[in-house]
Amino acid sequence: MKDNLPRIKSVYDSTYDGYDELYGEEQLIKYTMALRRIKLKGRILDVGCGTGLLLEFLESQALFSDVEKYVCLDISEGMLSLAFKRSKRLCKGKCLNVLGDALHLPFPEESFDFTLSFTVLDLLNKPLMGLKEMLRVTREAVVISLLTRLKNWTDFLRFGKEIGRTDKDVILLFNVKQALDGYLRKSIP
Ligand SMILES: C[S@@+](CC[C@H](N)C(=O)[O-])C[C@H]1O[C@@H](n2cnc3c(N)ncnc32)[C@H](O)[C@@H]1O
Repeated sequence: MKDNLPRIKSVYDSTYDGYDELYGEEQLIKYTMALRRIKLKGRILDVGCGTGLLLEFLESQALFSDVEKYVCLDISEGMLSLAFKRSKRLCKGKCLNVLGDALHLPFPEESFDFTLSFTVLDLLNKPLMGLKEMLRVTREAVVISLLTRLKNWTDFLRFGKEIGRTDKDVILLFNVKQALDGYLRKSIP
């Protein structure tokens, strides 16, 4: 399979300054939907954090008070430069920005309580490997939003089987444009 990482990186490196205006509103809806049932606390990893919109959302909704550490990871220097500005403004020493690849997360096993990743998995060459990596570094729950790859519960279970057993929660939010109620929470049996 052809590695699409250089292309993805170059797309985001050349369009990062228009991202918030184009997608900001849509992403806020996803964050609200996905995070309404969990209480974030401890160490949080944001995989493919982009410009740091999620960080800003959490801070604006007072969802940041029990967060001890917030790590933004992205492959695009352009996107991460904006996340860096945001974290400097909002984070008061809790935030770290890391340039890195979702398929090779540079963190030890279970080093985060929650991993969040919005609209990233679909972009990866190997989405399963991406999810496995997120589960590896997470203790409690992985929260992801997808655009297209999984469309229903059966797909999710199939996806789950390929991942293998875990007692960690995987919270999926599907394309909000098509199905606002496409929200699933499941421990993979
Ligand atoms: C659609 S944007 C979503 C950004 C952010 N999660 C949000 O909610 O606005 C996808 C992001 O994933 C990043 N990305 C794509 N592939 C990646 C990879 N292999 N590793 C890390 N980040 C990646 C891109 O650089 C981009 O910032």
